[in-house]
Amino acid sequence: MKITIKEANKYVDQEVTIGCWLANKRSSGKIAFLQLRDGSGFIQGVVVKEDVGEDIFAHAKSASQESSMYVTGIIQKDERSPFGFELLVKNIEVIHESVDYPITPKAHGPEFLMDNRHLWLRSKRQHAIMKIRNEIIRATYEFFNNEGFVKVDPPILTGSAPEGTSELFATKYFEEDAYLSQSGQLYLEAAAMALGKVFSFGPTFRAEKSKTRRHLIEFWMIEPEMAFYEFKDNLEVQEQYVSYVVQSALKNCTLELNTLGRDTSKLEQIQAPFPRITYDDAVTFLNEKGFADIKWGDDLGAPHETAIAESYDKPVFITHYPTSIKPFYMQPDPDRDDVVLCADLIAPEGYGEIVGGSERIHDFGLLEKRIEEYGLSKEAYKWYLELRQYGSVPHSGFGLGLERTVAWISGVEHVRETIPFPRLLNRLYP
Ligand code: 4AD
Repeated sequence: MKITIKEANKYVDQEVTIGCWLANKRSSGKIAFLQLRDGSGFIQGVVVKEDVGEDIFAHAKSASQESSMYVTGIIQKDERSPFGFELLVKNIEVIHESVDYPITPKAHGPEFLMDNRHLWLRSKRQHAIMKIRNEIIRATYEFFNNEGFVKVDPPILTGSAPEGTSELFATKYFEEDAYLSQSGQLYLEAAAMALGKVFSFGPTFRAEKSKTRRHLIEFWMIEPEMAFYEFKDNLEVQEQYVSYVVQSALKNCTLELNTLGRDTSKLEQIQAPFPRITYDDAVTFLNEKGFADIKWGDDLGAPHETAIAESYDKPVFITHYPTSIKPFYMQPDPDRDDVVLCADLIAPEGYGEIVGGSERIHDFGLLEKRIEEYGLSKEAYKWYLELRQYGSVPHSGFGLGLERTVAWISGVEHVRETIPFPRLLNRLYP
C-alpha cells in the first residue's frame, strides 16, 4: 500500500510504502533513525538492525541527505513525535542517491540560502511557511466566496498605472508602451460595476529601489472591490477578512506554527473589530513619542508604523491621510478636502502595513480634475472615467499584500521567505 505521510493516521499497525526523501539521520550501533519527508509531512523511520538484517541496515546507515527512496514499514503510534506516528522500517529501496547536498544541518547565511532557494524550499521551516501561505490563499477564496464575491482576473500587461508612474516596469507591447501591473484596482472597479462585489488574486510588480525586510519587486495581492460600499463598510470587510484568515491559519496550521515557534496567543486575539486612528492623531502621537522628524503632510515610514502598532494587540487602521500623498482616485473627506477616505492597516508586532484601501471618487467632474492635476494622460484613463458616466455609484476596495501577511502570521522576519522564489532588488535568480 503506497501512502503519503499525512495519511499515516489511517494506517496504524499496517505495512505501508512511502515515497520520500531523507531529510536527516542519526544512528547508533544497532539502530538508525531516518527523518523522512514527502512534501505532505515528516515522519521518523526507525531501522533496527536485528529486524532488517545487515544489508538493509547498512543501506540506512550509508544513505545520504536528500536521497530519494521508497521506504516500507509498519506505522506505529508515537506520542513523542510531533506528528504522532513513526515508521518501523522493514525495507529501503533507494531511487536516487543525492551526492554532497549543499544545505547541511549546520547554520548557513541568508545569501547562501537564497542562492540555493530551489533546494532551501525542502527544509522543515520553508515547508511550514509555504503551507501557511497556502492556507491563507485557501481561506481567502473561502471567505470571499462565502460573502458572495466573484473572482475576476485583471490583466498583467497594462496601459495605465494606478499607483503612480515612478515604480513601473515598462515593456513593449509590440509597437506600444506597456507596463507590468502594479495593482488590478482600476479594472476591478469596472468589474464591480458589472458584478457588484469582486476580488482578484494575482502577481503585481513594483520597480521599487527598496531593500527592506518588507519589500519585494514581485508580490501577490488580494484585491476586493465593492459597489455601494462606502469608507466605513470597506473597513468592516477588511477586519472581518483578516480575522477570518488568521483564525483559519490557527485552526488548520497548528503543526506549522509550532514548527516556526510562533507565539499563537498573539494570533488568538485577532478578532474584529480593529482599532482606528486618524492620520492627524497619528502625527500628534508620534510627535509626543519623540519623533521630531514627522510633520503633517509627511508619509509615515516603517518606524512610525511600528511605534503606532505597539500600542495595540490587534491590527490598527490609520485613516484619513493627506490628499497630497495619496493616489488620484481616492474620495476626499466630504467635511475637509485636504484628507481622503482611505486607510492603511498596520499589523501588530512590527510587521508593518498589510493593507491599503479607500473609497474611490465616483463623480466624473472631480475625477477628471484629479487626473489633470496629477498630470496623467486623459486618453489612457478614458475608459476609467467612463465608469463615472453610466450609472456611477459610491464604491470602495482594498489590496492586501500576501507576503507581508504570511510573514506576520508565520512570525517570519523577512518577506523573502514567504514566497517560493522571491524577486528582490539585485536578485532574479534562481
Ligand atoms: O497600498 P498599496 O500600494 O495599494 C494598492 O496598490 C491599491 N491599488 C490596492 C487597492 O486598493 N486595490 O498596496 C497594497 C498592499 C500593501 O499594504 C502591502 O501589503 C502590499 O500591497 N505591498 C507590498 N508587498 C511587498 N512588497 C512591496 N513592494 C509591496 N508594495 C505594496
